[in-house]
Amino acid sequence: MPAKSLDQVVAYLKQRGFIFQSSEIYGGAAASYDYGPLGVELKNAIKRSWWRAMTMESDAVVGLDAAIFMHPRVWEASGHVSSFSDPLVECLSCHKRFRADHLLSEERFAEAKGDEGKMAKALGAKACPHCGKKGQFSQPRNFNLMFSTMLGTVEGEGTRIYLRPETCQGIYADAQLVAKSMRLKVPFGIAQIGKAFRNEITPGNFTFRTVEFEQMEMQFFVKQADAAAWFETWKKKRMEWYAGLGFGKDSLRFREHRADELAHYAKAATDVEYKMPMGWKEIEGIHNRGDWDLSRHAEYSGKDLSFFDEETKEKFIPWIIETSVGADRLALAVIMNALTEENDGKETRRILRLPFALSPVEAAVFPLLTNDEGLQKKAGELFASLRGKFRVQFDDGGSIGRRYRRQDEIGTPFCFTVDHQTLADGTITVRSRDTMEQERISAADAEAFLKEKLAQ
Ligand code: GAP
Repeated sequence: MPAKSLDQVVAYLKQRGFIFQSSEIYGGAAASYDYGPLGVELKNAIKRSWWRAMTMESDAVVGLDAAIFMHPRVWEASGHVSSFSDPLVECLSCHKRFRADHLLSEERFAEAKGDEGKMAKALGAKACPHCGKKGQFSQPRNFNLMFSTMLGTVEGEGTRIYLRPETCQGIYADAQLVAKSMRLKVPFGIAQIGKAFRNEITPGNFTFRTVEFEQMEMQFFVKQADAAAWFETWKKKRMEWYAGLGFGKDSLRFREHRADELAHYAKAATDVEYKMPMGWKEIEGIHNRGDWDLSRHAEYSGKDLSFFDEETKEKFIPWIIETSVGADRLALAVIMNALTEENDGKETRRILRLPFALSPVEAAVFPLLTNDEGLQKKAGELFASLRGKFRVQFDDGGSIGRRYRRQDEIGTPFCFTVDHQTLADGTITVRSRDTMEQERISAADAEAFLKEKLAQ
């Protein structure tokens, strides 16, 4: 059965070198996390898989790596400067934000302002317009979601700039440059992976909601008449990709946004949700953004951002279908989905059943005995022959059973053991994570064996 409690998973991820709290020696930095040696391999593998699906396996999608800092006008055009500077309260249950002065009446808000007790009482009587939970609001904060800093060397004289709260604005700003330089015609897409930053009112649930995170976003530029069909196409393509990450049919679902919860830019939106221990939660948003983004950037930059339609011989602003997934949130979902515990009546075995392509370690090499020079030497040679070609680990600590268990816990698909028979006939034992079966193969075939099995 899958390991259910988030606390258990967090403890396991720390113990096994996947994810640590940032600056732990100083008591930890709130809502910031570091990926340890195994975590960074897993996250890189997820990003590689997404990049491959987008830029190699999809028609007409190219890559981009835009800067985190952009011209401040970008965030005026995008609506971020104006949309997030109201007195906001957040529902502590569903994390939706609301204007406190709308939730209460303006008079009631003005009356309670500056008095936490009064404000809590007033908000306590209100139900969340989204999830219906009563009285579960944070105190209001005059809140802008964006982190800002000053660009310039003299204090007080710089320009206010923002850390991007989403990566897609770099794609919109560069769309014309990308299309012209690559001779792209609508429909085409631009994919990007990069850091985004949000001053979340209530970060939490480990890496699920943090202030610094990575997004994998793809913007697909289409004609208005084709937008609804492309929206459906991308929904289908995204679900197919998730199946390759090991998610079963019932572990993910789509959730369509109601008209009253659509973001300001969206004509239609669907979340891909995964069943976390805290309930069904969004891991990806798929949006039909209409012509909002390019129209706004054309207006604010004064540049012509239209494209030419060869059929009608007319200029038009493309509509945009967006797929946006958080790499950190997805990595957590992948781990929750893969981590299983099996009891054989004697003991509980913990296995991270990752698809092989995502395993931080692809194979482990063991000498059967720790203090046997001949076995150590042979195992060292086998390890050296695989290193550089695969993600391999050498382990000569403790009993073989314990070493298998350690590798199962981090999702290693295969373990090679060098024993006395190896010295006699050159064969080694291969033990599979998933079947627990063992077979003997020639040590000389280990590379070919791994190549074949990992490709399956
Ligand atoms: N460009 C559209 C956009 O940013 P979003 O729904 O706000 O849409 C997309 O974010 C994805 O980014 C989410 O589905 C989630 O996976 C990830 N994400 C958003 N905020 C996050 C946070 N504070 N911590 C971790 N991941 C986050």
